[in-house]
Amino acid sequence: MLSKPIDTAPLKAQFAQLFGPGGKIHVVRAPGRVNLIGEHTDYNDGFVLPMAIEPYVLVACRGRDDATVRVASSHFPNQTIEFSVQSKIKREEPQWANYVRGVAAELLAAGIPLVGMEALITNTLPVGGGLSSSAAIMVSTGLAMLKVAGLTMDPSRLALIAQRAEHEYAGVPSGIMDQTIVAAAKAGHAMMLDCRDLSKQYIPLDPAELRVVVVNSMIKHENSSGEYAKRRKQCEEGVAFFQKQTPTIKALRDVTMTQLELSKGKLDDVIYRRCRHIVTENGRTIDFAMQLTKRNYELAGEQMVASHNSLRDDYEVSLPELDFLVDESMKQKGVYGARMTGGGFGGCIVALMQPGAVEAFTPAIQASYSKKFGTSPTIFATVPTGGANVLE
Ligand code: GLA
Repeated sequence: MLSKPIDTAPLKAQFAQLFGPGGKIHVVRAPGRVNLIGEHTDYNDGFVLPMAIEPYVLVACRGRDDATVRVASSHFPNQTIEFSVQSKIKREEPQWANYVRGVAAELLAAGIPLVGMEALITNTLPVGGGLSSSAAIMVSTGLAMLKVAGLTMDPSRLALIAQRAEHEYAGVPSGIMDQTIVAAAKAGHAMMLDCRDLSKQYIPLDPAELRVVVVNSMIKHENSSGEYAKRRKQCEEGVAFFQKQTPTIKALRDVTMTQLELSKGKLDDVIYRRCRHIVTENGRTIDFAMQLTKRNYELAGEQMVASHNSLRDDYEVSLPELDFLVDESMKQKGVYGARMTGGGFGGCIVALMQPGAVEAFTPAIQASYSKKFGTSPTIFATVPTGGANVLE
């Protein structure tokens, strides 16, 4: 259940204006996500613990009798793009459309018989905010293409297809966290995902006891900037080192604390610290899940702060703005924990707090951040929503 019903009428009206009236117009929604803990662990076969948030991507769509797909975005007026599901789909300008082309191409490659479609995309999810707008666009347009073809798909399979599209068409070697939570979230719950076997454990977040608050640093985050791919390579270097001694090690997920400690001095210091982040972050994520389940919110919050510090010092993906937001958040009454969330180098922090703490938190953080950095951050509290769905 979503917290507030979504009014789809304005989008459908815009759709009819753009593509003409008539036929059945469907509306598909995909949420953004915030990761509570388990950062950069997904591409190391590790554990992550995200939840879906209320801001979303919406797609209004209608099937066509031919094989032509025409897609527009309310954020890029006068840029309706077109391709055919019967020819090879190329990666080309404009960039935003590659998310759609990519999903179509990967669905076709998986043997899914797509048909033509008209679609209009809109979103309340900030693009470049580190809240998985790209995964939400891919999963929602994928679901739209399935819907107009009269098909359905297991959310975890759609997530894997969207991930392949992100690799091949957006040029980002992302892990599987974002697509999975966007496609398979459960309302009222966070999801602990084992990124090795893709098993999921849904953990309830009691709204009477907890609020999740997202603070956007307003610094645009981009996984395609190269730093993300660089971290992945450094992790692979780490795996190669540990594999030489212990051939059963397939990913950093398999490295123990003892093996890590023994590598100190032998492994290049940067690679050592990257590995230390991953090994300790997996431990923190498992412990966080346990503390959350037991309602030990203080202990869960401590793990969030430890995660942030490790991302700042060992993984080096934070920024002074994110560090400041975390420090300031932790000074507020009723806040259990805070940390940067997502790939890093901008985007958002997430704070876990008592419900009564939100009212004072928001103006306090707004004031201190504006004073220090001259920009007002966007702040919102959210409940965990369900995964992508066809609204009508
Ligand atoms: C981005 C990627 C995810 C994950 C996070 C870091 O959001 O898309 O797969 O690696 O960064 O945890």
